[in-house]
Amino acid sequence: MSDQILVAREGAVLSVVLNRPEKKNALTGDMYRALNVALAEASQESSVGALLISGAGGAFTAGNDIGDFLAAATSGQESEDSPGGRFIRALARFDKPIVAVIEGQAVGIGTTLCFHCDLVYAAPNAHFLMPFVNLGLVPEAGSSMLAPLRFGRARAAELLLLAEPFGAETAREIGLVNQIVAAEDLRAHALDKARALAGKPRGAMLATRRLMRGDSEALYAHMETELVEFRRAVRSPEAREAFMAFLNRANR
Ligand code: COA
Repeated sequence: MSDQILVAREGAVLSVVLNRPEKKNALTGDMYRALNVALAEASQESSVGALLISGAGGAFTAGNDIGDFLAAATSGQESEDSPGGRFIRALARFDKPIVAVIEGQAVGIGTTLCFHCDLVYAAPNAHFLMPFVNLGLVPEAGSSMLAPLRFGRARAAELLLLAEPFGAETAREIGLVNQIVAAEDLRAHALDKARALAGKPRGAMLATRRLMRGDSEALYAHMETELVEFRRAVRSPEAREAFMAFLNRANR
């Protein structure tokens, strides 16, 4: 498994740490592959009752690796079965509670992943952003359906069309984050909550979670539509220009 994804057991909780701090934990294909293995193991292993996901080095994640996006755009390799696409599908279908720990940057999938978590705890410096349109892309992980549903169309337009960044306080107000916790206590607090979820009667927990989500077929279908649009967008000239602009920042 990639050393950029650290997987450890903390009792009945499976802890997954995004560990590429020198790149703000930007996610590569290898990291998605490792995440997919971790999710599959957590689902199958009966002694795991909850998943805790966090980032190393004071950031959650700067989103998908933009160099990987550019490579996919250039080579046409952004396939229907990309590791990122598989991760998004596995996350939405994951059958046990997920608790997220958000410190610092949570960009792109760093924000949209939270839609699929049951509990989200954030440090005061958490910084959320869904910059898809700015990058010539479209939203993923069902966020173009879930953001309007959860926040209303008006707020969702600010976050997805204007791509406005938002902080921990706004994230709590709109219901993306449960609670803001001081950075030094954040992980321990989230782990306690994950342990609490893992310690509940398992059958009732999983059934309640399923009932709360309702019929997910419409979401899964919407995610596939997003992925089709995404694969088209990632190859577009406007996306390529945006990726190059980010990667060439040092030369400006
Ligand atoms: N893909 C590839 N590399 C990335 C990255 C990404 N998504 N995000 C950050 N990095 C790299 C930077 O290029 C930099 O590498 P370098 O040290 O070799 O130059 C390193 O990670 C640190 O990032 P830096 O930009 O210096 O940190 P910062 O604190 O000033 O800014 C961000 C952090 C997240 C605001 C900024 O890096 C950023 O905007 N990243 C892109 C986010 C994005 O658009 N993601 C795609 C979402 S769909």
